[in-house]
Amino acid sequence: MGENELPFPFEFEELQPEEDELIKTAFGSAMYANYIRLGPKGYMVFKPYKKEAANIYNMPLRPTDVFVASYQRSGTTWVQELVWLIANDLNYEEAAEKPLTQRYPFLDLFMSFDENSKEEYIDTIAKTEENFNTEKFSQLLAYLVTPVTPFLAAVPLTTKRFIKTHLPMSLLPPKLLDTAKMVYVARDPRDVAVSSYHHAKWMKTTNFQGNFKEFWNLFHRALFSLTPYFEHVKEAWEKRGDPNMLFLVYEDLSKDLPASIRRVADFFGKQLNEEQMNRLCDHLSFESFKNNKSVNYEHLRELGILEKSESMIRKGKTGGWRDYFDDEMAQQAEQWIEDNLRDTDLRFPHMKH
Ligand code: A3P
Repeated sequence: MGENELPFPFEFEELQPEEDELIKTAFGSAMYANYIRLGPKGYMVFKPYKKEAANIYNMPLRPTDVFVASYQRSGTTWVQELVWLIANDLNYEEAAEKPLTQRYPFLDLFMSFDENSKEEYIDTIAKTEENFNTEKFSQLLAYLVTPVTPFLAAVPLTTKRFIKTHLPMSLLPPKLLDTAKMVYVARDPRDVAVSSYHHAKWMKTTNFQGNFKEFWNLFHRALFSLTPYFEHVKEAWEKRGDPNMLFLVYEDLSKDLPASIRRVADFFGKQLNEEQMNRLCDHLSFESFKNNKSVNYEHLRELGILEKSESMIRKGKTGGWRDYFDDEMAQQAEQWIEDNLRDTDLRFPHMKH
């Protein structure tokens, strides 16, 4: 531990055997069920997180750093592209040339993959993919399991760093907002659950076997990656008044994109004229996003790791959860939301509270 480093303050705790069992049944194999709980809120992280937790907690920050943070499937990609374009004076050429994944190192990606599960991944994927190139996959896996903190530390000081994360604020450097900026995006958890369910089916390495009901059960009972969901959102919400924090909501972007764009532009001290606004709205529309190779992750298809019927930029709708929840689940969700909003002034603008 370096001289100025803080000790990592949280404990890791093994899951209860029943919890482990429930997860392993739904995921059909051990590789995506490798969880451990972290800290007083009990965040679910994958075991590889353990070795990197202190490095992330202590990562050196710069005043030019920009974090785009969220619970997964809340519109992160959308907000990443919006933030990057605003902060880089609408440099569409570079945005088209450089995939979003290169523009934004993803802080916690490494934890969702495990090198020890390589054979299991290969067996799972090879079952559905005739010409699966295991060599290419092995290279990809070696890249995916590597934490990005050393890479971020080596970025020249003259280069602005943009960082994607799904980690809650309490796992990030405690004084992050004293130095860096963060844009956080939240979304109706019912749509997050549906979107996460499809995401789990999209990535073959996840090997999710269950139906939506099973997925929802894991998600709302805080048995899925980086849940409990509401703790995650509340941590960012509590910081919404900080001048270095911008708290956005997916449903707001969806309802009135120009208004959210203006908030982002104000946050970065930029102004957009009407023509620039129109072009940006067009660029960020669901239709153009779906066809934008720089943001849609479709390049991963050639590796054979994606399910053909699923996609990263999927439906882009609010309230799509209604097609997935039966009455019992809808009531349960409503109660769960109400219970979790009781001790906070966090409100989702589209919900009737
Ligand atoms: P759905 O699965 O409901 O369609 P993330 O980037 O955090 O993984 O979030 C993904 C969700 O954001 C997906 O939701 C995706 O379709 C949606 N999304 C991505 N780009 C969008 C856009 N330009 N407009 C609306 N929704 C978008």
